Amino acid sequence: MEGKEGKLVATSKLVMNEMIMPNDTNPLGNLMGGYLMRWMDIACAICAARHCGFQVVTASVDHISFYEPIKLGDVITLSAQVTRAFNTSVEVYVEVSAADLTGSNPRQSNHAYFTFVALDEVTGKPIQVPQVIPITTEEKKQYEAAIRRRELRLILAGKIKPEQAKELRHFFTEM
Ligand SMILES: CC(C)(COP(=O)(O)OP(=O)(O)OC[C@H]1O[C@@H](n2cnc3c(N)ncnc32)[C@H](O)[C@@H]1OP(=O)(O)O)[C@@H](O)C(=O)NCCC(=O)NCCS
Repeated sequence: MEGKEGKLVATSKLVMNEMIMPNDTNPLGNLMGGYLMRWMDIACAICAARHCGFQVVTASVDHISFYEPIKLGDVITLSAQVTRAFNTSVEVYVEVSAADLTGSNPRQSNHAYFTFVALDEVTGKPIQVPQVIPITTEEKKQYEAAIRRRELRLILAGKIKPEQAKELRHFFTEM
């Protein structure tokens, strides 16, 4: 099923668990947001590197909100999967849920989109990555929408001008 042109989402999908220990918490006994972001970055980086077959660096992280506090002793589950690859970059979606140690009181905590760039080991320069082959309905929805998320983040990062955007130009420029 996997050709030269691309790889299936399932090939690089990753699920990672962490238990919240005292050193991970703030004075209220809740997981520090920064520690959660670190784990999200690690989960997504492993997923991106598996897909690309190269070392990757985090190029950007889209908006992150924290819906629910995560308590000392809770166990979090991070599920990361690629959504779409472009030329040298790949977008990874990560979802975080939490539950107590026995699995009860499960709840969604947050989600985010990370973008990684693959680097050639010798030159250290960005290198072309395999395309993503979406199969399921959800994978196809993520794949289609990724082009708009990419335009938005590149505009916000000052990498492209709004008038260069194909999909979102009308949001930023007059008709
Ligand atoms: C990410 C990085 C390699 C991009 O380098 P660059 O010289 O801007 O490269 P280019 O302009 O040629 O862009 C390369 C790719 O990065 C993507 N990119 C660059 N900046 C981006 C951003 N802010 N958000 C998303 N993608 C970005 C480009 O869209 C391009 O993707 P494509 O080839 O799929 O179209 C470079 O900025 C870097 O090394 N940053 C530091 C990474 C790092 O250390 N991360 C950990 C933080 S401590």
